[in-house]
Amino acid sequence: MIKFKTTLATQSRFDSINFNDLRFGIYFSDHIYVSDYINGAWTEGEIKPYGPFEIEPAMCTLHYGQALFEGLKAFRSVKGGVNLFRPYKNAERLNKSAERICIPPFDIERLIEAMKELCRIDYKFIPTKRGNALYIRPVAFGTGNFLGVHESDTYRLIIITSPVASYYPEGLNPVRIMVSDTYTRAAKGGTGSAKVAGNYAASLLATKKARELGYSQVLWLDAISHQFVDEVGAMNIMFVIDDELITPSLENGTILPGVTRDSVLTIAREWGMKVIERAISIEEVISAHSQGKLNEVFGTGTAAVISPVGVLGYKGKDYIINDNKIGTYAQKFYDAITGIQYGELEDTHGWILHIEV
Ligand SMILES: Cc1ncc(COP(=O)(O)O)c(C=O)c1O
Repeated sequence: MIKFKTTLATQSRFDSINFNDLRFGIYFSDHIYVSDYINGAWTEGEIKPYGPFEIEPAMCTLHYGQALFEGLKAFRSVKGGVNLFRPYKNAERLNKSAERICIPPFDIERLIEAMKELCRIDYKFIPTKRGNALYIRPVAFGTGNFLGVHESDTYRLIIITSPVASYYPEGLNPVRIMVSDTYTRAAKGGTGSAKVAGNYAASLLATKKARELGYSQVLWLDAISHQFVDEVGAMNIMFVIDDELITPSLENGTILPGVTRDSVLTIAREWGMKVIERAISIEEVISAHSQGKLNEVFGTGTAAVISPVGVLGYKGKDYIINDNKIGTYAQKFYDAITGIQYGELEDTHGWILHIEV
């Protein structure tokens, strides 16, 4: 087992946290993991108290955005201890994102061990309430100080953790999503399939405008024809048309290969559902709606797990889906995945990494 140098916090942030109103990403636990890439290698890294660190005004990431991140959750298992959900998937995706923006790969076992150690040390920050969890956020970024568009030769990887409730204040209640037919998020050959900071900066204006119109997030269409559905701001998207589960395929490289997406598709296939990963146009979605065949639309992602879409706004018109109610499939997938996460249902896929505390 890798043992990290550890400096424990002398003052805890615990008492400042309102566990009855956690919301998402506003509280942070006591400790972080930090590793630096210097002289051509990542250091073993250490665990230290959460707190600010100094950066120089010329730090390249501020200027050129050479940064990536990940997001996964730790749950209190009903059997005791802590469950991480498919952490190897996130670790592998972190290295794929790293490759895309020229950050050197990180040792996967070390990353997993650092997450486990943070969960052990900050165990009390893992919420006890069903539906809440400890969100784990690894981030890696260039730390070189220079002007000029080229990769850095030094980097930092940190892991912070945050006790969270569901991403959307709506929880499992349906959200309103606006289809953007002007702004786009990712084009073929770009960075859409990587979890890099710039993708999210590029999404902010459209999302802000959508929020001003009363929607939670944007549904992105492809960058060329503005016809085909890609994904939502922080979720993949799925449609139940008749009894088929349809979701955009990963082959264009414009959407994030979501861990929740993969989990839902796996479970759906096991349930005998017809699952199709293919291009789906917004016109096809609207036409299925008008024929009464669009039974459900929902987003999938770590933060919200499953988020039913109750209203789809497109070209100034609102399309109400499933009477703006939680769909049967959305509920079933939510129950199946969270059941595994909290240790209530058998983990037949080996998705849980259990941590004894
Ligand atoms: C753009 C985007 N798409 C999809 C997802 C869902 O991915 P996952 O299920 O791995 O959380 C996320 C969240 O990580 C995201 O940021």
